[in-house]
Amino acid sequence: MREYFEFYLPTKILAGFSALDNLGFELNILNIKKPLIVSDHVIEKVGVSGIVKNVLEHNGICFSEFLDVPLESSLETVEEIAEFFNKEKCDCLIAVGGGSVIDSAKGVRILLEYPNKKMIELSGADNLNTKFTTPLVVVPTTSGTGSEATLVAVIKDTQNHVKLPFLSYGMLPDLAILDPRSTISLSAKMTAATAMDALVHAIEAYIGTQKNPVSDSFAASAINLISKNVLLAIENPKDNVSRLNLAIASMLAGAAFSNSMVGIVHAIGHSVGAVCEVPHGVSMSILLLPCLEYYKSVSNNYLGELLLYLTDTEYFASTKDKTNANLDFIRNLLNTLNQKAQLPLHLKDVCKDKSELGKIAELSINDGAITFSPFFADKKIVLEILEKAW
Ligand SMILES: [Fe+2]
Repeated sequence: MREYFEFYLPTKILAGFSALDNLGFELNILNIKKPLIVSDHVIEKVGVSGIVKNVLEHNGICFSEFLDVPLESSLETVEEIAEFFNKEKCDCLIAVGGGSVIDSAKGVRILLEYPNKKMIELSGADNLNTKFTTPLVVVPTTSGTGSEATLVAVIKDTQNHVKLPFLSYGMLPDLAILDPRSTISLSAKMTAATAMDALVHAIEAYIGTQKNPVSDSFAASAINLISKNVLLAIENPKDNVSRLNLAIASMLAGAAFSNSMVGIVHAIGHSVGAVCEVPHGVSMSILLLPCLEYYKSVSNNYLGELLLYLTDTEYFASTKDKTNANLDFIRNLLNTLNQKAQLPLHLKDVCKDKSELGKIAELSINDGAITFSPFFADKKIVLEILEKAW
């Protein structure tokens, strides 16, 4: 038990089959006159931003929209949206999309708060106000990043080829709306990869050095919901119940790691993503087991406990070797996701050149997330994990 911890989640959560229908009521409470919808053309095409627009029209709320957010959020896009926001005299941001859209909207909020500063000057931890003036509503269209409940945004500085992180309590959205209609069109592979990202957020929060009883309860609920719903959503994509449960799990896992951090799986995963351009959820899925296996070899803290949340009380109580049963459960889940959703199992499936592993290991030990790993990891240990993942 840690002697002291803090847990912060000021975001109001609306979750349910028609949760988006309450958006107009919530905007009226916030006294919003003209929101700006921030989204992309894929989300527009599958109809999620259309649902939001219908609700606003139904409630007599006029709005503007910006649909040109690229796959990866960038400073240029953030500046363009902020300019458009001011030109249109908007008073609230509604982000409808995945990680890039939500991070872009978080970035716009920073620029609106600090109109005379350069974004690069504000990058880092705790360089921002803890309460922002412009309200931010988030409608996530994937169930993975948990960005609707985190204090983080990552925005690419394309000129200098670096990703700028922004961390502050003020970054947390005012409102997150989890409605299964937002994720119903996700492919099986996207559903699997994003669910694995959320599962890793929850597991890393639970086993990491910053764990605390509040984040543990969020992480445990998230693990249980993902374990029980990910295959249901893949087998029956239009199933509202499993879609909603995965959305809730992603939010819970986001809140858990926003307060207790992620660890070695993310440290290596960020580096694999940078070198091999692998989607984040795919690298999380490939690296989870080799990292946990190494963890087992040095300490079996918490690994056995995870079995309870991944399965149920009866299975947990009747299983002697809980640590190995936990790893077997995750191995079976990954194999099933590989068969049913073509989620890659090995690094060699997504990285072409094995000689890049040294570079990946070097980047990993310099990634901030490694600080919160439940075990010490130097370059040699990271290489050992990467060899196993290959
Ligand atoms: Fe992640």
